[in-house]
Order: sequence, then structure tokens, then C-alpha cells
Amino acid sequence: MPEGTTPSGIDRNLPSYGDTDFSRYLRRAFLASAGFDETDLDRPIIGIADTSSDYNTCHREMPSLVAAVKRGVLEAGGLPFAFPTASLHEILFSPTTMLYRNLVAMETEELIRAQPMDAVVLLSGCDKTVPAQLMAAASVNLPAISLVTGPMMTGFWRGERLGACTDCRRSWAEYRAGRLSEREINEIRQALCPTAGTCMDMGSASSIACVTEAMGLMLPGGATAPSVSSDRLRIAVATGREAVKLALRGGPRPRDVLTRSSFLNGLTVLIALGGSTNTIIHLIAIARRAGIRLTLDDVEEVAQRVPLLVDCKPAGSGYLEDMHWAGGVPALLKALESLLDLSALTITGRTLGELLAEVPPPGEWQTTIRTLDNPLGPPGSLAILRGTLAPEGAVIKVAAATPSLLHHRGPAVVFESPQDAADRIDDPSLRITPDHVIVLRNAGPVGAGMPEAGSLPIPRYLAEAGVRDMVRVTDARMSGTAYGTVVLHCSPEAAVGGPLALVRDGDKIELNVPERRLDLLVDERELARRREQFTPPPLPERGWRRLYAEHVLQAHLGADLDFLSPEPS
Ligand code: FES
Repeated sequence: MPEGTTPSGIDRNLPSYGDTDFSRYLRRAFLASAGFDETDLDRPIIGIADTSSDYNTCHREMPSLVAAVKRGVLEAGGLPFAFPTASLHEILFSPTTMLYRNLVAMETEELIRAQPMDAVVLLSGCDKTVPAQLMAAASVNLPAISLVTGPMMTGFWRGERLGACTDCRRSWAEYRAGRLSEREINEIRQALCPTAGTCMDMGSASSIACVTEAMGLMLPGGATAPSVSSDRLRIAVATGREAVKLALRGGPRPRDVLTRSSFLNGLTVLIALGGSTNTIIHLIAIARRAGIRLTLDDVEEVAQRVPLLVDCKPAGSGYLEDMHWAGGVPALLKALESLLDLSALTITGRTLGELLAEVPPPGEWQTTIRTLDNPLGPPGSLAILRGTLAPEGAVIKVAAATPSLLHHRGPAVVFESPQDAADRIDDPSLRITPDHVIVLRNAGPVGAGMPEAGSLPIPRYLAEAGVRDMVRVTDARMSGTAYGTVVLHCSPEAAVGGPLALVRDGDKIELNVPERRLDLLVDERELARRREQFTPPPLPERGWRRLYAEHVLQAHLGADLDFLSPEPS
């Protein structure tokens, strides 16, 4: 290889033996043991980041998708190398996958940097795996394309259509209120997750998949095709072919695509979807990796001008397969065309506008994807709140809240941790009334890794009396599939001395969503006294949890590790 030339293909990222020619020779010797000859090794190398795991039921179809991507890569003249990374399944991970998103991002980044590849296919699906891979891709800036496993199909129980996991939560709430029997709730359990794939409502996995496609990092149609559909396999093959094109062209690279325009386009789609609040944290984290300034103010600005267009649970009534058959993200983008920056580049090398020129508007034969002149709901499906209880911001999913509770004043009842809430929420001696504001604290990034504990259940005795929603305030997150009047991501969190740490039982809290306020109605002298008494909880003793707690940023900054997430200029 001529001096000064950047190595490519299999000669990228050689091991360091102090003799480059020997490193190259040795690598080819070992690859010969796997049956590769020079004809193979002179091709562009496509890495496939594979998050298969027996512990990840959402990724059950991944082996067949890896095979399909490999076929596409080979057809286009590349050589595929799949490599495993850690996998995060929401329900099989404790205490929360959010605690490990940054670990997977770091691992994926290092594996892309350390192994030979000219482009990488990021294969993921369950909530945190997609943002972790995008954070890695934005950091490495090697040509990359995202492919998700796709959503589950829906199930049926006694004629009722069901899906994970809005219906999981709704059914469980009905069971707690005594309106479903033990036998019925167990029958429903068997119907909620009938196929491989990710949660099939507009939860966090669906939201980030749709936003990734909208931002141009995935092939059109790639977000919504069901995991078990032939569409999904064809998209996987096409993704393999596209990865080879990316490798041969040397781009566009992730940071060519991840511009401020593409993030604002992504936010526009998120709001039109009535998507998950978790996506906000992930988008801010990915933006910071790409050197882009994205803030909660951007979220608020977009949220106030974009209406709800997609009829999917929890904000609507349908499921991801409905959205897919209705045209998927391309049809939604077409409906939103006038609100988007069409000059945003996609990994195809074409602009969003060029892609949309070939997409028809949402068909009149369907009702899942609406148009701007016939929206499902008004602008403001999400709102950003500030006030004495959340100086740096908090988030509420207005579309999933009870309208009559959006302006509410009530006494606080405080739970010190998710476990404390689990232990005491049903205790009748607390005398919780529907007017109370339930506070859950020490569940932010430092306090607990930010679990999806924010949508605490309604106390059993109130649920049995017919109470279906109450105001809840927390530094935790909630599942994108959850619903209720829940104020999330209060920043700064209680564990670092944020105002949530100062709340006492009986204090008055006022939620005023129309005014975008969240306030603790206690005078400043009393708060100063309480602040002096505050002692932070101890940090975890060792390992990743210690590193995480020492370096994680607050939710409004994306909850990435400070040394991986430079302040955007
Ligand atoms: Fe994997 Fe919901 S648990 S997407």
C-alpha cells in the first residue's frame, strides 16, 4: 500500500506489533483459517452489529435478519462480518436498561473503532439498543445504516385486539381494581406478545425507530415493517446492499446526516406520532455525540406547532402494523412535508425532499396516518415544564394525560424510591386521596439509573373505587407505552440535591401545563433550611454502576456519560 494512504477494508485497524506488514500478513493468515482468500478480502468490509440474545425476546428474528443483511452485502460485492454486542431487553434486565444504554454505546463504539470495517449495519430494536448504536455511530462517524427488528404483530383475547404494552398496563390496572379475574389476567398474558418483535404500540422502541428513519439513518419503510413480515426481510437485504454503497462512496457519514435540521425533523415526527418521552433523552444524547445543540426548548417549540397525526396507542387506538400498512414513516413524512427541512441529507445520498417526491400522500382508504388538515389531536402532545420543582425542566406526555388534571394543585405524598413505592403505595394508612400528588424521587440518572418507574400505580383502594388517574411527579422515566398524568425527568434530580429532594408529605404542589409550570408551593426560607439538611444518597460501591453514577449527566442533557458527551459549541 502506498505510503500515506488510509488503509481500507480488511487492512483497517490492524493490531499493533510494531511491523505493519507483519500485522497485515498475520491477519490474512488467520482469516485463511476461516476460508477467506484474496478474492474475499479485497472487497469492502461491512460490519454488522448484532444484538441477538436469548435474553432479548424482541430480537428473536435477528438471526434471520443477519442472514438477510449478509445476502444483501454479498450481492452488492461486499464481505459481511457480524459481531455480537451486548443486548438490552426492557423486561429481562434489572433494575433498568437505561443504566446500560451508555455501556452498550461505549462497547459498540469501541468495537467499530477496533475492528476492520468500511461501513456498519446497526441491527437492534428494543428500546435502548437503537439509541445506544446511534450514539456510537455519531461518535465514530464511520458510514453506518440502522436496521431494526421491527414490531410484533397484535394478538387477540375474547375478540379484543391486544398489544404490548399499553394493553399490558391497562389490563393490569383493571386487575388491580378488581375488574378482571385471576384467570382472565392470565389468559390476557398469553395474548399480549404473540410474535417476535418489539412492542407494537407507539412505545419507546417504535418511537425511536420511526424517528431514526425520519432522520435519514434507515431505509424508507424500515421502522414499521413487522418483525415476522416478508417486508422486514426485504428491507434487511436492501440494507445490506445499501451498506456496500455507503462503503464504496465513503458516505454519507452519520454526522453528514445528523444535522440540526435532521434532529428537528426527528422531533417533528416524534410529536406527530404522540411518541415516547424517552426519545427526548435519547435524541439529546445522540445530538451531543454529533456535536449538535438540541435542548428541551427545541422540544417545546416543535411540540407547540406539530399536531398529533398518528393513531397508535397509547395516544391513539391502533398499532404499528396499522401504521405500516397505511404507508409507514414515508407517508407520515409526506403528511408533514410542509413542516420539515427537506434539504436534510439521508444515508441514501439523497435529500429527504428527493425521497418524498416519490411518496404519495396518506391514502384516503386508511385512518391511521392523518393529514395536517385532519389531525387526530391538536399540537402539544408533549410539553416541557419548568418551575421551582424542575428548574432545568421536566416532561409530560399531554396526549396520554387526563385533561382535567393538567391544571391541578394538591398535597404531596412522597415515596423515597421505586421500592418504597412498591412497598407502601397500597397502604390505606397513608390516606391518599385522588387530589394528592404522588411524588417518586431518587429515581433519576444518578439515584437509580432512571428506571421506567414514573407511572406508579394508582393506590389499590382508590383504583377499586374507580379512580383511574392521578398527578404523579418524578425524576424517573416512564415507558413509552404508559399513560396517565405523569410529570417525568424532573431535573436536576433528587439524588444530586434537586428540589424534588426537598418535598415533604403534605406540601402543596401545583401542576399547570397550560402555563408550562411545575411548582412546589413552599416558601424559600423553609426550602433553604431543608436544603442545608440534605445529604446525598451513597454512590454504588464498584464497577459500571459506580462509573455511571459518577459521570452520568442529568436527563435534560441526555443522561450520557460526561466524558463521552462534549458540550456542543
Ligand atoms: Fe423490547 Fe418493548 S420490551 S420493545
